[in-house]
Amino acid sequence: MNTLLDNIGLLVTNDPSVGAGLTGEIADAAVLVDGDVIRWVGHSADSPDADTRIDLERRCVIPGFVDSHSHLIFAGDRTAEFTARMSGQAYSAGGIRTTVAATRAASDDELRRRAKDLVAEMRRHGTTTVEIKSGYGLDVTNEARSLRIARELTTETTYIGAHVVPPEYADNPDGYVDLVCGEMLDACAPHAKWIDVFCDRGAFDADQARTVLQAGMRRGLMPRLHANQLEPGPGVQLAVEVDAASADHCTHLSDADIDALAGSATVATLLPGAEFSTRAAYPDARRLIDAGATVALATDCNPGSSYTSSIPFCIAIAVRDMRMTPAEAVWAATAGGARALRRDDVGVLRVGANADLVAVNAPSYVHLAYRPGVQLIGTIR
Ligand code: NIG
Ligand code: FE
Repeated sequence: MNTLLDNIGLLVTNDPSVGAGLTGEIADAAVLVDGDVIRWVGHSADSPDADTRIDLERRCVIPGFVDSHSHLIFAGDRTAEFTARMSGQAYSAGGIRTTVAATRAASDDELRRRAKDLVAEMRRHGTTTVEIKSGYGLDVTNEARSLRIARELTTETTYIGAHVVPPEYADNPDGYVDLVCGEMLDACAPHAKWIDVFCDRGAFDADQARTVLQAGMRRGLMPRLHANQLEPGPGVQLAVEVDAASADHCTHLSDADIDALAGSATVATLLPGAEFSTRAAYPDARRLIDAGATVALATDCNPGSSYTSSIPFCIAIAVRDMRMTPAEAVWAATAGGARALRRDDVGVLRVGANADLVAVNAPSYVHLAYRPGVQLIGTIR
C-alpha cells in the first residue's frame, strides 16, 4: 500500500535535478512512498494516484538528518568536568578515561538502555541515520561488547579502540597500538563497518594512527579519522592519504589541509557541539566550502566534549557562527552526512531512496536556525 504525502509547503530533496539550488527545493510538493522507499517526488498538482493521502498542511519537509559521528556507548557522567570548563579549565583528551572507568563497570543492559535512549532522543530531533563509535571500553572485552550493542542500533558502527591510551598501558603506548591492531581488532571487526583513531594532542600521533587505520583496512573496515580538533596537526593529511570517508572536527586547518580536502573524496565533518561545550573557536566552514570541500555537520554526541543529540542545535550554530547559509547547513546535516558515510540511499529524497522524511513545523527549514532551541521537528507517519 502506498501513501501520498501531500500539500508540502516546501520540500528539500537535495536533488538539484528536480528542484532549485543545492538543496533541490520544490514548493507545493508531494512525495509518494511505498513502505520504506520513495516512489515519486514532484509538484502536488502532478501527483499520481495513491492508496492513502496524508496532508502536511503546508509544512516544510526535509530528508531525515544523517548524524555521521556519535559516541553513544558509555556510562557515567562528566558534569563536574563541564562545570570546571565553564569556569576556565581547558578541555583535554584525558577526560575520556573517566568515562572508560564507568563504562567498564556498567552492565550490558545499562549500556544498551542508555544508547537506546540517546538514539530515541536523536530521532525526536529529526535524525533517521546514526553512526555509533566504540572507544570507551579500551580493552578487548569492552570494545567488542560496545560494538555488539551499537550494532543492535545501527549498521554504521565504528571501532575506535585508539581513542586514548588506557591507564594500564600508560607506560607502553606502542604496546597498546599493537593490541588495537591485533587481538582487539580480531574481536571488534565482526561488529564494525568503520575504523577510526583520535589523532591529536594527548591521543595518537600520525604514525600510530596510520598503523591502526591500515590494520583495520586490511580487515575490510573503512577508514575515518578524528583530526585537527585540539591543534593543527597531521590528521587531515593522513585522512586524505588513506582516502578516509571523513576527517572529523577539522577545527584547526592550514591552507594545505583545506586544499587536500578540496581535492579529495574525504568529507570535512564539522562538530560544533564540541566547540560549544569546550568553549573553543568554531571551525570556519565558509573557507572549506569556498575551496570546494564537502562539509558535513554532526553532533559528536558524547559525555565529555559534546553532550547534545540535536542536529538542529548544530545547524543553528553553523549558521550563526560558522558562516554557513541555512541551505548549506541543512544540506551538510543530511546529504553531507550521507557522503561522510559513503551512502546514497539516505540524505536525499529521490525515487528509490529510503523514505526517511522529517517534517519541520514551520514554513521553511530556515526556522531551524532562526528559532534556536525550539522543538520544530514533527512526525509524518
Ligand atoms: O570527538 N575527540 C575525541 N573524542 C570525543 C571526545 C570524547 C570525550 O571527551 O569523552 C570527541 O570530541
Ligand atoms: Fe568524536
